[in-house]
Amino acid sequence: MLPAADRWHDPALLEHLARVRAPWDALAGRIVRAAAARFVPPAPGAVVELGAGGGQLLEWLPPPLAAEAVLTEPSEPFARALRARHPNAPVLQTNADALPFGAGEVRAALALCVFDTLRNLGAVRDELRRVLRPGGAVLHVLDLATSPDALFPELIAGGEVPLTNFARDTALLEVLSDAQREALPEAGEFDEVLAVRWEPFHALLKLLAATGHPLLARLGPYAELHRPGALDPDALALNFMRESADPARLLALNRALVALALTAKQMGREWPVRAVSSRAFVRAKLCAAFGPAHGFEMLFAGPVSAWEAADEGFVLRHAGRTVRRAEVPAEPFGTPVSDWDTEAFLPREGAVRETTVEVFAARRA
Ligand SMILES: C[S@@+](CC[C@H](N)C(=O)[O-])C[C@H]1O[C@@H](n2cnc3c(N)ncnc32)[C@H](O)[C@@H]1O
Repeated sequence: MLPAADRWHDPALLEHLARVRAPWDALAGRIVRAAAARFVPPAPGAVVELGAGGGQLLEWLPPPLAAEAVLTEPSEPFARALRARHPNAPVLQTNADALPFGAGEVRAALALCVFDTLRNLGAVRDELRRVLRPGGAVLHVLDLATSPDALFPELIAGGEVPLTNFARDTALLEVLSDAQREALPEAGEFDEVLAVRWEPFHALLKLLAATGHPLLARLGPYAELHRPGALDPDALALNFMRESADPARLLALNRALVALALTAKQMGREWPVRAVSSRAFVRAKLCAAFGPAHGFEMLFAGPVSAWEAADEGFVLRHAGRTVRRAEVPAEPFGTPVSDWDTEAFLPREGAVRETTVEVFAARRA
């Protein structure tokens, strides 16, 4: 694994995050404000943000909390970009597992899209237990696609390879026959990953390579995996994120994986696949890490949703995907943020845009 400073070095990523967030800014901000008001305890103690990146979370916090937040960020180029964007905010260049605060000096540790990227979650948790005062809170929010950084090494160590969710690609499902659709593995619409057993998958790739099958070249990040030593969790996670972020490339990859799955079926080669939600994986990890055995009490873990009026139909951004439907589904895709705040809310009917933010909150015992 690359050290954080090497993996998070390109400020263009921060601009990309700002761009994809912009259309959902008001809704995500509302959820973050409500979560902060609900879970951040009153003074005394410092309010510290971990892995602040370009400072997006600061812009969503309730202004009084933002005014006292100390921003931390381990990456030097990101810390520089952060200082340029928020010249009045205190910025400390530091890793979350070594915070420059004394024991019990902090009342809230806040983070946006950070815990899903950590391989040293246990070390960060231990550091937070040290710096938080009793009753202090950890609040993590995740508004975009979950990073596969923590998930992929676990899957690969367990003998599985993570594939994109080709079984629920709406554009592909429309052009497949009923029989072809039925042959695809079962998966939820928002499961980001289909995990396939490595041995049969590897054997199939080797067969394609040995026979010079044209499908192999279309398999993007999986095309070279038949070569010895090519299965690198870091490289796969990075390529997976790149493919998933580009709709045209994702469609091409999913098309090739559907063809591969159907070919495997025709050849009578068993290809067991299970659907995995990266968000659910991270949620379970955080619940375990911040449990009573480690000096914390979990307060909330799950998606919180907010919505607003739209031009027509229903548009949902959830777990990194944006989907459209003709009708508004009966239930929101998470705890309605109106359960937590008193801001005005339109009825969830007619034409609606909805988004979810995955919220995790725990209290230092
Ligand atoms: C996906 S970016 C999110 C940035 C920002 N919070 C946002 O959402 O716009 C992940 C951030 O976590 C930071 N990070 C990675 N490992 C870290 C660690 N061990 N301690 C603190 N921050 C870390 C990275 O430097 C990067 O800024």
